[in-house]
Amino acid sequence: MKTNTVTMTDNRTGAMYELDILDGTRGPSVVDISSFYTQTGMFTYDNGFTSTANCKSEITFIDGDKGELRYRGIEIEELALNHSYLETCYLLLNEKLPNKKELLEFDLELRHRSLVHESLRHLFQAFPAGAHPMATLSSATAALSTFYYDHLEISHEAGYQEMARRIIAKMPTVAAFAYRHSIGAPFIHPDIDRSFSENFLYMLRAYPGGKMHVGPDGEYSIKDIEVKALDTIFTLHADHEQNASTATVRGVASTGAHPYVAISAGISALWGRAHGGANESVIAQLEMIGSVENVDKFIARAKDPDDEFRLMGFGHRVYKNFDPRAKVLKGLQEQLKDELHLDSNLMRIANKIEEIALCDEYFISRKLYPNIDFYSGVILTALGIPKSMFTPVFVIGRTVGWITQWIEYKKDTQTKIARPRQLYMGE
Ligand code: SDX
Repeated sequence: MKTNTVTMTDNRTGAMYELDILDGTRGPSVVDISSFYTQTGMFTYDNGFTSTANCKSEITFIDGDKGELRYRGIEIEELALNHSYLETCYLLLNEKLPNKKELLEFDLELRHRSLVHESLRHLFQAFPAGAHPMATLSSATAALSTFYYDHLEISHEAGYQEMARRIIAKMPTVAAFAYRHSIGAPFIHPDIDRSFSENFLYMLRAYPGGKMHVGPDGEYSIKDIEVKALDTIFTLHADHEQNASTATVRGVASTGAHPYVAISAGISALWGRAHGGANESVIAQLEMIGSVENVDKFIARAKDPDDEFRLMGFGHRVYKNFDPRAKVLKGLQEQLKDELHLDSNLMRIANKIEEIALCDEYFISRKLYPNIDFYSGVILTALGIPKSMFTPVFVIGRTVGWITQWIEYKKDTQTKIARPRQLYMGE
């Protein structure tokens, strides 16, 4: 009897099956069930993949019980508080933080790649005024594949790096175009004199010709504290192992489709309010609750099994403790509330929800804690970013994670097309 195995007995027939256990460098081991069907003639069943690993990966590690998140082994708190988003992008793509020279070159390359082909602008004219930016962003990202068709055949590191840097650099520009189209404003091209995060705020806010808003006491320039806040938000969203949108990107990668349509599929999956779309829903929910006095009523609705109302920004498939990203954002909220004039009413409502939920048996027994989406919206609102752009901000941060996961998938010679089976219940 081998040791690193599990043995399973079919109690209907007495047949016994032996399956290998595979150990990772951190976290739970896995039972390799790839031979399960050939051994047993049965499939395994796992609605929502609550207990199923779909790949081996070296990028991101989450310990849901401890509330721990690491990118390439480095804890998220260290990266969010002491490094920039571009350093985090470099770390995810290259498995190490950049030195000064590497960071400068990476930054300059992203600045120069932030421009998009002029004809991409015309695509947006096809969309109705007021189109949700997530729909136009997903479409425009798929359209980007038509400008870089050669990326279909990448098979070497330099090609992967170029393809990844290109999409990371262009995502803020395309997201800003999506926003400007949704409000009927002319598009603002990226300004390569501005840093990654500052440039995004600039493309959202500037007037035609690139002039920033001029107030009674001169030009409203973009404050450093705003840039740092947004940069931290991008870092916190950079990757999150095999969440629904990343699993979607890997699924599209498994068929051999273009990397940018895989990213577009990830954007579409992220849009759902159960996933990245929750950040937009959280603010809408806080505004709907309206005052601290109404919180109890909505908590009761969230607990009512017959009411589909759920507390947006609460709960997580993996975190059964505080989402470490939510902790960083909560700290950022406290730090910024005076300097950025955060909406104190929304903050009070959010804090009241958290205070009640964390003492309530319903949430405690289900290990429901605030997740990253619970706190991001108040800060984004203070940065002048409208609700409709919250999930596009999530997209900008997560693009590096998606493309890094896509590259890891492509480099893995053991991968197969993602094709699950089913339990047939029909005629
Ligand atoms: C993200 O996966 C990732 O890593 C995602 C993400 C990333 O970085 O990529 O972290 C980003 O998507 C964060 C999650 C954002 N979504 C929301 O905030 C939406 C609200 N949360 C829920 O819809 C829910 O918690 C999920 C979708 C996040 C997780 O769902 P699960 O793991 O499938 O859990 P479940 O639906 O089976 O819920 C378990 C129980 C149920 O009660 P019972 O049937 O056992 O009685 O908890 C309840 C649920 O009803 N529950 C909630 C709740 N979330 C779960 N009840 C009230 N409010 C909630 N928010």
